[in-house]
Parts: sequence; structure tokens; C-alpha cells
Amino acid sequence: MVLLRVVHGGLRNPPHLALILHENNMTHAFIIGCGDIGQRTAKLWMAQHGTVSALVRSVEATRTLAHLGITLVKGDLDDVDSLVHLPLQNTLLFYFAPPPNNGTTDPRLRTVLAAITAENRPGEIVYISTSGVYGDCQGAWISEDTPTHPRSERGARRLDAEMALQDWQRGTGVPVVILRVPGIYGPGRLPIERIKQGLPVVREEEAPYSNRIHADDLARICIAAAKHGHHGATAQIYNVSDGSPSSMTEYFNKTADLLGMPRPPAVSMAEARTRLTPGMLSFIEESRRIDNRKMREELGVDLLYPTLESGLPTCR
Ligand SMILES: NC(=O)c1ccc[n+]([C@@H]2O[C@H](COP(=O)([O-])OP(=O)(O)OC[C@H]3O[C@@H](n4cnc5c(N)ncnc54)[C@H](OP(=O)(O)O)[C@@H]3O)[C@@H](O)[C@H]2O)c1
Repeated sequence: MVLLRVVHGGLRNPPHLALILHENNMTHAFIIGCGDIGQRTAKLWMAQHGTVSALVRSVEATRTLAHLGITLVKGDLDDVDSLVHLPLQNTLLFYFAPPPNNGTTDPRLRTVLAAITAENRPGEIVYISTSGVYGDCQGAWISEDTPTHPRSERGARRLDAEMALQDWQRGTGVPVVILRVPGIYGPGRLPIERIKQGLPVVREEEAPYSNRIHADDLARICIAAAKHGHHGATAQIYNVSDGSPSSMTEYFNKTADLLGMPRPPAVSMAEARTRLTPGMLSFIEESRRIDNRKMREELGVDLLYPTLESGLPTCR
């Protein structure tokens, strides 16, 4: 604590700042965007490390989070006035809220960062971004060194958030860890409705590569990122994946098999373009395979579910 006070008191960006904060062992986490992954992360944090507060906007979320033993702070990311004086000082901030649904920027995250002052500055930020920032890579294996080139507005919004965080780290010296996350699956979040509707998938021979991570592994990765993910003066970026790229088609087929449902009809890519919504198409018009080596080696993550075969049975 003493070291952090010194840093906030005016020691601007010494090269060893990240190390100082890393050794400081923050015990209180604050979660902005405490939905599914936030709640899984909160449970792990409370079991192993300390206490958790979270920003809440709805009555329903208030009940759920209070039941978990999380301290509640009322606020809405779309209401600037509610974000002033958030009790973030010296906390580990997990920022898991999505940007708004439209546009190419993330005004929510930018508003939160702008509202942070020297008095309520967190000790570290772990941010969930998306692997969509890479855009279409035509099936290539990608690492954190692959240039970003978002093709969808969704990807552009996330890249804007990442840039805002990188600027903020440069200005404050507070460590930031960015996790570029692919499709999340897990208990309660399988595409059952979509399969029931009989919407088509692209036939296997034409299906682009896609990547996934089990929700419980992602929560463990968020904790590992907080503990081990900051080694330098700039934001640290990690690609997240179970390391077993497949296709959306394989994922839907395996999900249907697991649930004893008929597999979705397989159509050509050309037909899929006429039958799927632009939102769905934006996912299947990009193809890449994520190399998760940096995540495994630097964060020390030992995945519970490195394949769909190991992870899907937990979702029954
Ligand atoms: N789904 C995927 O495959 C995927 C892939 C890559 C990245 N991601 C991202 O990963 C992150 C975590 O995912 P998740 O599944 O845990 O998401 P989630 O369950 O939808 O949780 C998102 C949380 O953000 C909160 N939130 C949204 N807008 C808000 C606002 N204006 N003010 C205050 N809170 C707001 C929600 O609050 P309410 O409960 O009040 O709505 C909810 O608690 C999200 O940013 C998601 O976009 C998802």
C-alpha cells in the first residue's frame, strides 16, 4: 500500500513501476461488467485472494451479485454522472463490459478512464477484448505480433478500447493487461436456440477456422493475467484460446450431438450469405487460428478444457 501511495503522489512512470505494483499484491478487485465471466472470476478471486466489488445497473443483477457476497456499487456505463468517484483506488480492476452495439469506438470505457483521478486510480486493469481485432487472416495461425486489422465494427470498437487503455497506461504508469478472447462457451451458454431454429451452418469443406475458450478457463486466465500478466511499461496483450481451432460448423454439430438434437443443415458459403443475418455473417467471414503459447507460458495457464471434447460435456 505504501508504495502505491508514493506512486499516486507524483512518481510518474518510473521504469520499475509495473514491478512495484506487481509485488504490491492487491487484495480487492472491482469488476465493471460483472456478468457471466465476471461472476466466475469473482468466485475464484474471493476463494483465493480477497474481496470483490462490482458496478451494477439492474435490480436483477443486484440480487445475483449480492447473493455471491459481492459489494455493489450502483452505476451505468451510459450515464456519465454515475461514474464519477467510483471507489477504484488501489483495486485490481477487471473491465469486462462490452462497448455499445453501434459505432467504431467505445465511449463507455473512455468515459470510465476519463473519470478516474489520482485519488481513485486502480492499481491494475485487466481488460477482455476480442480476437476480432485481427480481422480476417485467411486461416493463418496468429500470434500477438500479428497486425490488427478489424473488419467488423465490433472489432473496431474493441481496438478503440485497447488504444484508449494503452494511452491511459502511458499517461498513468498503471499496468494494463489486454486479453484477446475468441468465442466463449460453457454451461448455460451453448447455441441451443440457434440450433432449434434450424439455421444453417457452412458446410465443413468451406467453413472458416474459428477458436473458442471454455468460460471456466477464461475466468482462470483473467486471474492469471492479474497475477502474472504485467512485465513492462506498455500494456501487455495475450491471445486467449483453448489451442484447438476448429470451425463454427464443427462446434454446432458437436453441440447438437451432445444435446441429442438434429445437426444444423449444412449449406455452401454462398447460400449462407443469403440466409444468415449480417451479425452472424461477420463471425463466419473471418478465418484465423489462434496460437495460445504466450498465454500458456507467460501466464502459467494449464487449461482445464483444451478441446471441445473435454469442455462440452461440462455444459450438458
Ligand atoms: N460471447 C463471446 O463469445 C465473447 C467473445 C469475446 C469477448 N466477449 C466479451 O467478454 C466480456 C465478458 O463476457 P460475458 O459473457 O461475461 O458478458 P455478459 O454476461 O453479457 O456480461 C456483461 C456485463 O456488462 C454489463 N453491462 C453492459 N452494459 C452495461 C452498462 N451500460 N452499464 C453497466 N454495466 C453494463 C452487464 O450488465 P447487465 O447485467 O446489467 O446487463 C453485464 O453484467 C464481454 O465484454 C463480452 O462482450 C465475449
